[in-house]
Amino acid sequence: MRRAVCPGSFDPVTNGHVDVITRAAALYDELVVAVLVNPGKAGLFPVEERMELLREAVTELPNVTVDSFSGLLVDYCRDRDIPVIVKGLRAVSDFEYELQMAQMNRELAGIETLFVPTAPQVGHLSSSLVKQIATFGGDVSRLVPKAVHDRLAEHARRSGR
Ligand SMILES: Nc1ncnc2c1ncn2[C@@H]1O[C@H](COP(=O)(O)OP(=O)(O)OP(=O)(O)O)[C@@H](O)[C@H]1O
Ligand SMILES: [Mg+2]
Repeated sequence: MRRAVCPGSFDPVTNGHVDVITRAAALYDELVVAVLVNPGKAGLFPVEERMELLREAVTELPNVTVDSFSGLLVDYCRDRDIPVIVKGLRAVSDFEYELQMAQMNRELAGIETLFVPTAPQVGHLSSSLVKQIATFGGDVSRLVPKAVHDRLAEHARRSGR
């Protein structure tokens, strides 16, 4: 059984994430999408809501499950017998940080990292940018799954924009 994990904040999930998850799901028997719980950083959506939105986004991928983790990703991987981390790469700016993390995770626990190059249609997407646009009433309907779009619109309405 080949297993891998796609970690991230997913605050919220974007079409860029969905692209990486979909492609990773085709390469492994089981793929876990793991939301990082970061007590020092609240984010826009609570972790439970991020997971719910992710589950909705991957309903058509039967070998994908959604989970959360705190602490070191390598400990999460070791506890669950997951030998591979899959990461999306957008630009050189992603690469520098991700290379260092990949090297460290391999040194710490022998966990390998597989990089999936971004699809050009979503290479400019990040959760932060999507949130910024939505906050100011911009149209993000083509950048995120429908359920995410609806929640972002709700947030924008509540904050009075
Ligand atoms: N558009 C995209 N194309 C390819 N990979 C992506 C894309 N967006 C995110 N990823 C990858 O998804 C993983 C999780 O990233 P993360 O949760 O930080 O998303 P993000 O969009 O970068 O959010 P933030 O803006 O909050 O950093 C990372 O491996 C990241 O490189
Ligand atoms: Mg990021």
